Amino acid sequence: MISNKELIGVLVDVQHRYLRKTLQYLFNSVKKLADEGDKNAETLVPEIVAMLDALEDHFKGEEQDLFSKILRAEKAGTPDSGEPGALEFFEVTVRELISEHEETKAFFDKVVGLSESLEDEHEELAGGFVTLAVVLNAHILLEEELLFPRAEALFAG
Ligand SMILES: [Fe+2]
Ligand SMILES: [Fe+2]
Repeated sequence: MISNKELIGVLVDVQHRYLRKTLQYLFNSVKKLADEGDKNAETLVPEIVAMLDALEDHFKGEEQDLFSKILRAEKAGTPDSGEPGALEFFEVTVRELISEHEETKAFFDKVVGLSESLEDEHEELAGGFVTLAVVLNAHILLEEELLFPRAEALFAG
């Protein structure tokens, strides 16, 4: 069975990295089209800028807060070296992360919808957003269905 350390490695070093890079790449392509006067691309630009910011905040929060706490707790063999309130911290944090996941999914649906209005000659770009949304959903599932339940067991002691 994959360890928590390996799981977090996949979530951060593979998936966060892919999602960050791909969204930035798609943004650059859409921005280029917008700068060339494409109206549909222009509509997408502020949406993707907001998405880049929100996603970065979410990823940073996970990496610096919950994920590093999980790794420390696991290494110490006790919930955050016996720190009181570890389970409460977990519950509040996970509730926030799950609500951010819901917002992100809704946001991606919107961007995928908007990207459908791009001209046919840019269909690979629209397809890029669809693929990104699929990877994002898989990433969220892995966190919510595998990592969070494991973390809960860890913090519950
Ligand atoms: Fe994540
Ligand atoms: Fe997440």
